Amino acid sequence: MVKYVLTGATGGLGSQVLKYLLQLVPASDIAVSLHNPHGLSHDILATGIDVRKGDFADPRSLDRAFAGADNLLIVSYPSIAHQLRVQMHTNAIDATKRVGVKHIYYTSLAFASDSVAEVMQAHLDTERYLKQSGLTYTILREGIYSESFPLYFGFFDPQEGGNEVLIPYSDGAIAWVSRPDLGEGTAKIMASGGYENETHLLSGSRTLTLAQLAAKISAIIGRPLTLRVVSEDEYVRANVGKHGPRGEEPFLRKWATTYKALARGELDVVDPFLQNLLGRPLKPMEDTLQEMLTGTGAVMEQYAK
Ligand SMILES: NC(=O)c1ccc[n+]([C@@H]2O[C@H](COP(=O)([O-])OP(=O)(O)OC[C@H]3O[C@@H](n4cnc5c(N)ncnc54)[C@H](OP(=O)(O)O)[C@@H]3O)[C@@H](O)[C@H]2O)c1
Repeated sequence: MVKYVLTGATGGLGSQVLKYLLQLVPASDIAVSLHNPHGLSHDILATGIDVRKGDFADPRSLDRAFAGADNLLIVSYPSIAHQLRVQMHTNAIDATKRVGVKHIYYTSLAFASDSVAEVMQAHLDTERYLKQSGLTYTILREGIYSESFPLYFGFFDPQEGGNEVLIPYSDGAIAWVSRPDLGEGTAKIMASGGYENETHLLSGSRTLTLAQLAAKISAIIGRPLTLRVVSEDEYVRANVGKHGPRGEEPFLRKWATTYKALARGELDVVDPFLQNLLGRPLKPMEDTLQEMLTGTGAVMEQYAK
């Protein structure tokens, strides 16, 4: 028996949840269910946590990986492909039921409950499925990662030069929040128990629009940047064939709906819940920008796969 099984623990968010959970409960209480069981660092392996193979695409592997757990963290599957993503999450929820896990924690996203953003639709479907499952759940609407700013900011890469950042539809305010703060908050919620059948937004403690971000980034990189709102077609033309899979037209058209959501103020929501939970100020967006823009390595590599 283990108290906690975490999925996604090799990823940007899940690795932070694991790091903080290890500070709150004994390592012997934790198992990880990994897509790639070789993805853990030596430091984490040295804690002696139980490492299991669990692929959302393979239900039988999930039965083995989730067996004997009281609490399970489902970190959402990294994709914008709606049906595939819902299927992965459904597989995980169904396995949870089969093996008798008591409480599921699901990492949802911060867009509105009636969101027009494509990226939110799989989360809303998963939330509905979870609520109807009869399982005890806690839905954590994780805020927009500060570290993911290039995705929202026209796939910005300082190495590429240029003074214009193109976005479709609209700018809007975003309550950016760092993955370490989200990881610590998520771990605290899991370790404390409670929050049964509740949904919480874990947002940053203030908002910044993309135009405000442009001014801050300009100051850091010493080059003036202007944010320009263009048509969806112009946005697609400017990015197609670049940025790996994110430069494919179907992805770009889906991602463009994010900016319709910004126009509706869907991410312009500050909830004090996370800051109160951590009992300290959250990491400012400026610090993440400074680290990412002056650090080594390409910025594009530093946000979610
Ligand atoms: N809030 C935001 O701003 C934001 C931004 C981007 C993404 N997200 C969502 O939040 C999630 C967590 O973000 P992140 O930054 O931690 O993403 P990430 O670094 O890409 O991590 C994703 C995790 O999912 C695991 N995974 C991939 N395929 C899997 C499968 N078939 N079965 C089980 N696990 C699988 C990966 O394992 P391997 O390393 O072994 O492949 C990895 O541990 C993402 O997956 C995405 O759904 C949120």
